[in-house]
Amino acid sequence: MPTLLVTRRLPPAIEARAAKAFDARLTASDTPMQNVAAQAVGADAVICCPGDVFDAKLIGALPDTVKVIGTFSVGYDHVDVAAARARGIAVVNTPDVLSVATAECAMLLILAAARRAGEGERLVRSGGWAGWAPTQLMGTLVSGRRLGIFGLGRIGRELARMAHGFNMEIHYHDVARMPPELESGAIFHASDSTFLPICDVLSLHAPGGAGTMHWLNAERIAAMPRGAIVANAARGTLVDDTALIAALRTGHIAAAGLDVYEGEPRMNPEYRLLENVVLLPHLGSATTETRDAMGHLVLDGIDAVLGGRTPGNLVK
Ligand code: DGY
Repeated sequence: MPTLLVTRRLPPAIEARAAKAFDARLTASDTPMQNVAAQAVGADAVICCPGDVFDAKLIGALPDTVKVIGTFSVGYDHVDVAAARARGIAVVNTPDVLSVATAECAMLLILAAARRAGEGERLVRSGGWAGWAPTQLMGTLVSGRRLGIFGLGRIGRELARMAHGFNMEIHYHDVARMPPELESGAIFHASDSTFLPICDVLSLHAPGGAGTMHWLNAERIAAMPRGAIVANAARGTLVDDTALIAALRTGHIAAAGLDVYEGEPRMNPEYRLLENVVLLPHLGSATTETRDAMGHLVLDGIDAVLGGRTPGNLVK
């Protein structure tokens, strides 16, 4: 039986499958594992998660027995894939199976920000709600407004499908135009200069990493309409927090919904002081069905690599 090191507690069904098919080193911990290289001695495969830093140093220190790293996530900005490749270690991830859940989370952030759900929830919980009032916590409709999606990949497309149901006009900006059958009527913008001014609502769906670092900066925010809404269920590194916080203060950005943060679980503490930002703890894929599907997919990928096959979820 091959040996599998798992850096975090996984859903019960996934741990059960891992324990059946592998000599599995499981953990009850929900926080990043220390001394991964030492824990991996003799392991054929390792499952890691967002928040585990699998950089070149750690990958270089992994024992030669490790043939595959499976990340329990679609995003792999925490794994130095080039360093793994240089050592002949395959990397597999969990595309597709979390797209609907993550898009639902983005829609939740958009609605919660637009309709001031965070403020409302806090008011009711505080015991200070004095009852219905004509001018209380007035937000803005999303229906009929223009949604700009930065990154029309699998998750962005699911969000577009959902937003059609809210009668939103869908626009997107990406490195290249999608084939029309994937656009489903969304309007492509090749440049920021036409994209940003139409973003009544902007939702970020690009991968993290150096190429998108602080993409939403002060200059781009200034190009958006006053009173726009921002949602981020992708990666915290896409946002220049100082710039977004300044815009939330002036009202240039009316409200934001954030599920991810640069350096999470830490975040810019200013966010916590702002009423007009809804903060979630990276819940994008957090449904039971989705997390099970992610676990099965990552185990399928590991099985394939160890069996000498090329998995569909190999990170290239
Ligand atoms: C991912 O899969 O990359 C998410 O951010 C974690 O669910």
